[in-house]
Amino acid sequence: MRKIYIFDTTLRDGEQSPGVNLNTQEKVEIALQLEKLGVDRIEAGFPAASPGDLAAVNAVARAVKNASVMGLARSVEKDIDAVKEALKGAADPAIHIFLATSPIHRKHKLRMEKEQVLETAERAIRYAKKHFARVEFSAEDAGRTELDFLCQVTELAVREGVSVVNIPDTVGYLNPQEFGHIFKTLKEKVPGIEQIQLSAHCHDDLGMATANSLAAILNGADQIEGTINGIGERAGNTALEEVALALATRADFFQAKTTLNLKEIAKTSRLVSKLTGMAVPGNKAIVGANAFAHESGIHQDGMLKEKTTYEIISPETIGLKDSKLVLGKHSGRHAFREKLIDLGFEDLTEDQVNAAFGKFKDLADRKKDVSNEDIIALLEEKMVDTPEVFALEQLIVSFDSHSTPNATVRLKTPQGIVETKSEGNGSIDAVYRAIDALTKEEVVLDDYTIKSVTDGTDALGDVHVVLKQGDESAQGRGVSTDIIEASARAYVDALNRLIDKKNAPRRNRRDNVTLI
Ligand code: KIV
Ligand code: ZN
Repeated sequence: MRKIYIFDTTLRDGEQSPGVNLNTQEKVEIALQLEKLGVDRIEAGFPAASPGDLAAVNAVARAVKNASVMGLARSVEKDIDAVKEALKGAADPAIHIFLATSPIHRKHKLRMEKEQVLETAERAIRYAKKHFARVEFSAEDAGRTELDFLCQVTELAVREGVSVVNIPDTVGYLNPQEFGHIFKTLKEKVPGIEQIQLSAHCHDDLGMATANSLAAILNGADQIEGTINGIGERAGNTALEEVALALATRADFFQAKTTLNLKEIAKTSRLVSKLTGMAVPGNKAIVGANAFAHESGIHQDGMLKEKTTYEIISPETIGLKDSKLVLGKHSGRHAFREKLIDLGFEDLTEDQVNAAFGKFKDLADRKKDVSNEDIIALLEEKMVDTPEVFALEQLIVSFDSHSTPNATVRLKTPQGIVETKSEGNGSIDAVYRAIDALTKEEVVLDDYTIKSVTDGTDALGDVHVVLKQGDESAQGRGVSTDIIEASARAYVDALNRLIDKKNAPRRNRRDNVTLI
């Protein structure tokens, strides 16, 4: 069966999702998980965008051993040099350069005639080839490019010795028939096309990214570009887990396969969601919370009789475990450690296991039944260690439907333990006002979401907040059986991350680089 290469751009196009800003440590953590998932290529970032992006790409390049790490560059020498610098120390480095080819982009963005586009692409590929054995060239907005011109651009790229030509539907405009037709035409008309790999890069503006990617495969594409959970610019990119499962489930039809370790999909999805702060919708294909839930009586009856009546993929395929209860108040450290290994947290240090065990015991005191999801939520609350400038010591909230809520917050700060009481429009507002008064940080709450980890009134509440200060922003997460406490913890976590960012100036900022 034909192998389809998986090019993951979660750390580049995915990071272009509004509100997402990953720091170096987070990027490395995701990259190492992508390596476990078995992706072939990891686009780690856009090094010319800022020194912070360059440093993050370099950290990923040095950490990853079993996937090719790539950096994005516009078709200019300065960007190519930045990728070269960023990929120092990479086991298998490669560059991805792009240039827009569509009439709209040529006229309004590049202000170039076709001839100039060809010359610029040729110069850039030649320059990149001096430094990289493997060069991928993307014809940005290929989906809206005249097909004969796209053939000309591809022919040039092949002649100049690129390894991959990528065909992006940059604005998510095409349908599967049209997108497939492009691949078929390139295969038929471009001399030497068999020497290179053809790649598809789709955006989901009309909800057709996965279908378009599969159409590309049916018409000869060798590589699919996309992100985990489909995150990315605007409506996002092709969700890689959807393509992988479509190929695995319908191998009979597609006659093509990836070499992904599918059992790592659920874990990778959770990690990306946690570190980007982008929740996965419940009904999201493959990785949504409801993807394997059966609600109606008829379906449940069918499932009990024979799973294949309503299940085309088993949850185990993507590494989901049965969520029945196994641990409780009386469970010991040994059973807890076994459980962690079972849930895929086999790499934790002794200190991390001890901290997690403490949290588990606290939870078991408050909640009778502790499920797998509870344990995962506790563990993932804080897997990236940000220096704890502030820590929540105590919280007292008073709420009465006939008077103004108030909250007393006690915080550990670099100056010692401090405490204050504030009123607010609601209990959470009162808590946040008290924290603001104690930390003296002027922040804006840009986003607040809460979800319950499991069913039941004693479920853990999982709160995610985004705080803004000037042009800097940071996300935070808090988990507790009490949603006010979870909200406070998320807020303090975000403050610590914001301060950490301020202490590492420019680390994550982008210069004025326009990137589509
Ligand atoms: O969508 C797009 O065109 C891109 C290119 C940089 C490949 O992301
Ligand atoms: Zn894109």
